[in-house]
Amino acid sequence: MAKLIVSDLQVTGKKVLVRADFNVPMKNGVITDDNRIVQALPTIQYLIENGAKVILFSHLGKVKTEEDKASKSLRPVAVRLGELLKKDVAFVPQTRGKELEDAIDTLQNGDVLVFENTRFEDVDGKKESKNDPELGKYWASLGELFVNDAFGTAHRSHASNVGIASHLTSAAGYLMEKEIKFIGGAVDTPARPFVAILGGAKVSDKIGVIENLLDKADKVLIGGGMAYTFYKAQGKEIGKSLLEEDRIELAKSILEKAGDKLVLPIDTTVAPEFSNDAPATIVASNHIPADQEGLDIGPKTVELFASYLKDAKTVVWNGPMGVFEFSNFAKGTIGVCEAIARLNDATTIIGGGDSAAAAISLGYADKFSHISTGGGASLEYLEGKVLPGVASISDK
Ligand code: 3PG
Repeated sequence: MAKLIVSDLQVTGKKVLVRADFNVPMKNGVITDDNRIVQALPTIQYLIENGAKVILFSHLGKVKTEEDKASKSLRPVAVRLGELLKKDVAFVPQTRGKELEDAIDTLQNGDVLVFENTRFEDVDGKKESKNDPELGKYWASLGELFVNDAFGTAHRSHASNVGIASHLTSAAGYLMEKEIKFIGGAVDTPARPFVAILGGAKVSDKIGVIENLLDKADKVLIGGGMAYTFYKAQGKEIGKSLLEEDRIELAKSILEKAGDKLVLPIDTTVAPEFSNDAPATIVASNHIPADQEGLDIGPKTVELFASYLKDAKTVVWNGPMGVFEFSNFAKGTIGVCEAIARLNDATTIIGGGDSAAAAISLGYADKFSHISTGGGASLEYLEGKVLPGVASISDK
């Protein structure tokens, strides 16, 4: 079902509530990565240019106690947003009440206001996170239209996304639209061959994605720590490598069902301990020594994966191939990143989380068609789940 987009709304002179995902990493009150704020700019700029009164809000981290509030204020986000927009951005340190309502009433067309972390409402009865009906209704009463641009939060059914949407005409922002177009498009109507590369530490985190993409993709390439549970399921010696004992049977049944659609690494980089300084050796996947653990895919696997990627028309990548935070065990992740970056004629998507962080920190951000801003949300979308934040947007 097609959803309303911000450009479908008549926003001039209207109070437009905008749910963004400004849940950015912070250290000592300083934003360490402003990507989510940058990605929200097209929607905000469109609303400013079209004379809306822009009322922005988001959650930031988890807020369980009064004490948590000090380090979880959205004020630094409002400051950064003002710098990026080169414009005054008002900040109201409240989630409800007279100060907020008065500030909204004095907004002129094109003005921007940010109000405080929506999860401050969680201290008293988890009102935001439990989608308290009174809270969603109250926030909806502050505006005339609702734009949901918080794809990163779309797997949550909270008052600030789903709650508000049940009271106002709701449209997707441009970031939300882009995420749906790329991730939804890859899963539902991929150009073929469609190759998925899945990594990360645990099979248990990725079962849903593996199963859904085995149905949709032409090949599913598996790397990262979870490969060792699959090896074990094949009866291989995996030494001290990561193992999820309780997922071996599941891995066996996935292997059986998948046949040659699922491709495991053929070699692995091992070390005697989990450390960047540990001496690394490359071994065949069926020769992992008992006193060593696998920390990365090996060079032959990078070549093998690249050979499957070469002709792909759609690529989805989720999860690093090894412990990429250790420079000596990042080669597999870099190799896969480079192989995808070389594809000129394919839609290439990184499904958020660690693989997005890896591609960005390795300098490949502009080589992909789309890098998702969602972590949990993109994972659930790739699993084929309906995201409540998306479902609650008004149909066209
Ligand atoms: C995220 O960072 O994945 C989103 O902002 C959702 O945050 P949450 O897991 O705290 O709900």
